[in-house]
Amino acid sequence: MAEVMANVEVAPNIFRLKAAGEFAGRMGQFYMVRAWDKYPLLSRPLSIFDRDGAGIEFLYQVTGEGTTLLSNLQPGDELQLEGPFGNGFPELEDAGSIALVGGGIGIAPLYYALRRYRSPDVYLGFSQEAYLTEQFEAATTGKVVVDVGGIVLEQVDFQAYDTIIACGPEPMLKAVQRKKLESHSTAEVYVSLENRMACGIGACLVCSVKCQDKRRKACTDGPVFLAEEVVFE
Ligand SMILES: Cc1cc2nc3c(=O)[nH]c(=O)nc-3n(C[C@H](O)[C@H](O)[C@H](O)COP(=O)(O)OP(=O)(O)OC[C@H]3O[C@@H](n4cnc5c(N)ncnc54)[C@H](O)[C@@H]3O)c2cc1C
Ligand code: FES
Repeated sequence: MAEVMANVEVAPNIFRLKAAGEFAGRMGQFYMVRAWDKYPLLSRPLSIFDRDGAGIEFLYQVTGEGTTLLSNLQPGDELQLEGPFGNGFPELEDAGSIALVGGGIGIAPLYYALRRYRSPDVYLGFSQEAYLTEQFEAATTGKVVVDVGGIVLEQVDFQAYDTIIACGPEPMLKAVQRKKLESHSTAEVYVSLENRMACGIGACLVCSVKCQDKRRKACTDGPVFLAEEVVFE
């Protein structure tokens, strides 16, 4: 059990939750989170937004039952965290130029990555209202491009980067894959999937992802895959 330190609404239906304690985790990994006893049955996967000596942070959007329960948490309440799970973003020692591309709440795992990669450029796309952009700007010396209401991917030049990492809704990730193929870019392009999950540890197959060679599990083989590996259905 972890204790909630803060749970603040940073934009309509978007909350930033911090839990106290020492938690492991690399960029792009996630935790299975719950703040309830028996119902709903399943914990909910949330990416690591940030981590420091005092605790771990998540950035989440209220979309249903589980996240509504999380949004009611107050400092001092208890939270159950299991993890870290998943492969995470690639550790790139000499990655050259990097672009991180986030759509909507898909920006959540990118902030922690800013602190590992050297000066990546960041592209943040929002459908209605931008949030936390100043914090992203403060965390990188690369450029931060913010798009509200448009298609942020249109601003990413796939020839300009050695590595591109994208996280967001599936239509955006499909477009990332298409752009990689059509631009004949030599960049390594990764997508972080947000398939529905049940166990988070590779035991239930709920998160199955069709890949070019075989089906894989988003929770243990992913959630981060090379864009050309995934067969979007
Ligand atoms: C590896 C991973 C990391 C994630 N990281 C984050 C994060 O950092 N922040 C965040 O806000 N969300 C994240 N998500 C998505 C988050 O887990 C879901 O939004 C959450 O489980 C919904 O729970 P709920 O009980 O509130 O909604 P439910 O009542 O279960 O569902 C409400 C609605 O949301 C849809 N939905 C539920 N789960 C997903 C999903 N995984 N993808 C798309 N639609 C879904 C349902 O179809 C339904 O329409 C992540 C998902 C994965 C797999
Ligand atoms: S969530 Fe159970 S196998 Fe991936």
